Amino acid sequence: MQYKIALLKGDGIGPEIIDSAVSVMECIGAKFGHDFQFTPYLIGGAAIDALGIPLPQETIDGCLASDSVMLGAVGGPKWDHLSGEQRPERALLGIRAALGLYTNLRPAKLFPALRGASPLRADLVAAGFDIMIVRELTGGIYFGERGYRTGKYGEEAYDTEAYSVTEIERIGRAAFEIAMKRSKRLASVDKANVLETSRLWRKTMHRLAEEYPEVAYQDLFVDNAAMQLVRDPQQFDVIVTSNMFGDILSDEASQLTGSIGMLASASLGDTTRGMYEPIHGSAPDISGQNKANPIATILSAAMMLRYAFGFSAEAQCIEDAVDAVLAAGFRTADIIGDSEASACSCTEMTAEILKAIG
Ligand code: IPM
Ligand code: MG
Repeated sequence: MQYKIALLKGDGIGPEIIDSAVSVMECIGAKFGHDFQFTPYLIGGAAIDALGIPLPQETIDGCLASDSVMLGAVGGPKWDHLSGEQRPERALLGIRAALGLYTNLRPAKLFPALRGASPLRADLVAAGFDIMIVRELTGGIYFGERGYRTGKYGEEAYDTEAYSVTEIERIGRAAFEIAMKRSKRLASVDKANVLETSRLWRKTMHRLAEEYPEVAYQDLFVDNAAMQLVRDPQQFDVIVTSNMFGDILSDEASQLTGSIGMLASASLGDTTRGMYEPIHGSAPDISGQNKANPIATILSAAMMLRYAFGFSAEAQCIEDAVDAVLAAGFRTADIIGDSEASACSCTEMTAEILKAIG
């Protein structure tokens, strides 16, 4: 069986980290006897430079014809002067919508070897934490009507948030199902004391909660959730929330691990295809210098193996290799912290992980 994987390397460190993940996938393919075929497509600034648009139709078609998609990162100062519709980031929203990827899984897990890197006090993270943020990805204010008009004070801009029961139900169901496979705790985050969309969100989640009596369910307002995350992250297991709140809370949660260069993500829809990418961005400041941490992308490849192809043993093999390399003391510059070791490069880190896979 052949597995077709579309590669959207994108900008900045995107190409370097995707190359690392591809070498890991090839190693896994050889070890377990799978035939992974990789085809690159342009996206973001790279597509703007080559074709004048951030998301070419050929890229969408290529992804739709693939079994799965890996994304590096998009954007950089070179394209910052462009207006809304033409920016590299637009391509991200476009590809999420085109592939119907409404469920975004963003794990924020404290790696035991990197506990010292968390900005939280040692006693708050002593027991570790492992949070899964389930962010709605194709609706809400990101995709609502927007524009300019004349208001009470003259020219104004507006963005609107809309959520249908159908959209809330499908992300809610995804979150309850994930909670059932983990510790059966789910927190839904909204702003139901102010927003109408949040009141519909909450009402819909409560209806779903009745279908999942085994799941310990709670509602939190987003401001409280932001505070609780830094006060006691361990209280959370699965968090489900809207596109905008999920964008903000997932950055907060990821920073609590002290290692944004370590965190993977998966975007899923109704098919098994999905898109897998690191949580971090294109890091233009270190692009092309072989300094990037490839681990988040390598762990995204592991997520792909598990979710898109059902290869749990293969995914576990990658995760164990990453743990072993960290335990052996190898660190890229972003996770070196106060460790004595000297930083290893992107390719050195990749080589160590390949060695550990064997
Ligand atoms: C993310 C990013 C994107 C988002 C941007 C780059 C459009 O911040 O994936 O979290 O807001 O969704
Ligand atoms: Mg974000």
